[in-house]
Amino acid sequence: MTKPRILQKGRLLPQLESALAENYDVHVLDPDKDNSAWLAEHGHAFVGLTSSARYGAERALIDALPNLRVISSFGVGYETIDVARARERGIPVGYTPDVLNDCVADTAFGLLMDVARRFSAADRFVRRGEWLTGQYPLTTRISGKKLGILGMGRIGRVIARRASGFDMEVRYHNRRELPDSPHAYEPTLMGLARWADFLVVASAGGPETRKLVDAGVLEALGPEGFLINISRGSVVDEAALLDALREGRIAGAGLDVFDKEPQVPEAFFKLDNVVLLPHVASATRETRQAMADLVIENLRSFFADGRVKVAVP
Ligand code: DGY
Repeated sequence: MTKPRILQKGRLLPQLESALAENYDVHVLDPDKDNSAWLAEHGHAFVGLTSSARYGAERALIDALPNLRVISSFGVGYETIDVARARERGIPVGYTPDVLNDCVADTAFGLLMDVARRFSAADRFVRRGEWLTGQYPLTTRISGKKLGILGMGRIGRVIARRASGFDMEVRYHNRRELPDSPHAYEPTLMGLARWADFLVVASAGGPETRKLVDAGVLEALGPEGFLINISRGSVVDEAALLDALREGRIAGAGLDVFDKEPQVPEAFFKLDNVVLLPHVASATRETRQAMADLVIENLRSFFADGRVKVAVP
């Protein structure tokens, strides 16, 4: 039996690529090249597309695949996929939510603890030999503090659960109040920032949330407040954040994500009140394997009975 032909945009985990190759005839597209001529010639051959939150699937790519029947993406974020176009063409889009909630929530708390207690900066202090001659400055207590969550979705809820172990009070801001949340709703982000000691960004990316955390929100968070971002760099106005960190108008920030990854504005490197991670919130062996399994399962289930297991909403 001939294997269904799948186009893969960008490289994926090696074990995912091997699993794909067992069941499909896969061609890998280099996302850094102009593939339009190649697609015009070969695009008709593919019935499936695999990609990731990072590389997405833009309208031009979807339209270059006239026989495309299914998209299966590695990641929970799907703002880089033209879901509306896929829907118009009746193409289901599978993705990998939930399996990464715990690891992303752990990373949010890791960043929160690191920036408040200044662990990474203290590590640098020890390595530089400064402990021999000086005392490390006092830091900020975490337990009993107020945690504001922007975006009380799947990941936001797990972050809130972690917070209860630290005896923190939690409030959240969403577009809409949730009927079933045990936590208080703040109708405005500004109100949430004013109230919170720690503001964690856990909302989805995309045009609707672009630069939601702006200079005004940072001002409201104030000189004792900390910002944590494990969602998308686009949700925070990076220039405003840099100014606020430089001028001590907020206490610190823990960032796993940036607006133009993998570029990180060099100005961040000079600041000691910021912790920088290379977008690794879900990057544990266990979670990435679970995400890979779901990419395969979404395809398997589509080719078996016409529906991906977990489709974007
Ligand atoms: C996701 O799954 O969307 C993560 O941010 C990795 O890109």
